[in-house]
Amino acid sequence: MNEQNAQPAPGGCPVAHGEAAFRLYGPDVATDPYEVYARLRKEHGAVAPIRLEGDVPAWLVLGYRENRRVLDNPRQFSRDARIWRDWREGRIADTSPLVPMLAWRPDCVSQDGEPHRRLRGAVTDGLLAATGRGVRRHATHFANRQIDAFAATGRADLVAQYTEYLPMLVLTRILGLPAAEGRRLVESSAQVLRGGEDAVEHNDRIVRILGDLAERKRAEPGPDFTTALIQHPAGLDADEVVSHLRLVLIAAHTTTSNVLARVLQLVLTDTDRLSGLISGELNVTGVVAEVMWDSPPLAVMPGRFATGDLELGGRRIQEGDLLVLGLAPGNHDPEVRPDASAALQGNSSHLAFSAGPHECPGQNIGQAIIETGVDVLLHRLPGLRLAVPPADLTSTASTWESRLDRLPVEFPV
Ligand code: HEM
Repeated sequence: MNEQNAQPAPGGCPVAHGEAAFRLYGPDVATDPYEVYARLRKEHGAVAPIRLEGDVPAWLVLGYRENRRVLDNPRQFSRDARIWRDWREGRIADTSPLVPMLAWRPDCVSQDGEPHRRLRGAVTDGLLAATGRGVRRHATHFANRQIDAFAATGRADLVAQYTEYLPMLVLTRILGLPAAEGRRLVESSAQVLRGGEDAVEHNDRIVRILGDLAERKRAEPGPDFTTALIQHPAGLDADEVVSHLRLVLIAAHTTTSNVLARVLQLVLTDTDRLSGLISGELNVTGVVAEVMWDSPPLAVMPGRFATGDLELGGRRIQEGDLLVLGLAPGNHDPEVRPDASAALQGNSSHLAFSAGPHECPGQNIGQAIIETGVDVLLHRLPGLRLAVPPADLTSTASTWESRLDRLPVEFPV
């Protein structure tokens, strides 16, 4: 264990104490976050005191039921960061890497109640309008284009050459952006989720590109999400439009690319699954559900803020405390999943898409991109196999997510 986390966290301490609470960032989490979640559950039960980057105190919700209680009760656990005590009292710098993930902004994620319904309605209507002509068609087109670039070489790194690009390229179509912009946005979205010093600068770059896009679409409307947002009867102002473009881009790309890589990892490290998928005996939807349970892409989700003093998982939570939602530890909670190895295909009560009023409105789009990405790859490249032993496949984790580093494959040409 890294020195910074060498001190034991005190049991029953209130979050304001943060001094000895576990730091949910840095080397310990980067190597094996699941070991960290298991240890925190053992030491603290369903809710653990932790610190986030900048030593900011928070509660990590580890229990499945406790996650559901928080997500289903926005009146007690608000998404509005303006009630966050550490922010209100000036302890969160504008340059903090937590700002892009947690700070209030004029998008639907940051609101509750009626303001949330208004903005979320615009997003769901806009997604429907822009995807009516078929996500799978765009996904098939871009999957084939990505594969064309390496099909003659007999080898590829599927993370760097496929999974990291496919969702963003499909999103450029949905948003109405040129595909070349999508390639630039891939790097910036990844940096925001990775946190660290550059997160704020990359966030600004994303906002600049999307601000230009909104201006172009005001002058030249098209059959895309951006135009649908601008023209929506909810009357979004310029800031709200850009904030929702940013939200959809980051929420959609980083999660979908992460799951696509994990599904391919699972399939390529298990020959039975691979041959089942190729022969059609196995359904890719079931494999995706397995990954959603075992490694949800947003492993820890930011965040909710207590609207009053209350109790959760035996802890006294105070008004203004920050809670981060352990979607991955919740999915592995032995209380709801006593047998961790039991098959979960067909069971979609996992937390990967969150729950309650903010539950992901783009899940069908994400699923369609992942399923198409797997289908096209397996059918374009017969004989596809891993080019390294499965044990050599490493991941890097931040507070929020764990991503596969590389997926080297080879195939006959
Ligand atoms: C496998 C893919 C995906 C996963 C696992 C996923 C997961 C999530 C999660 C965990 C949330 C947070 C909800 C909360 O704060 O409680 C969320 C929100 C959201 N997602 Fe997704 N997402 C995926 C794909 C997408 C796609 C493809 C889109 C759009 C094209 C999208 C759009 C959104 C939006 C707009 C929100 C905010 C909803 C709100 O606050 O009401 N997501 N997603």
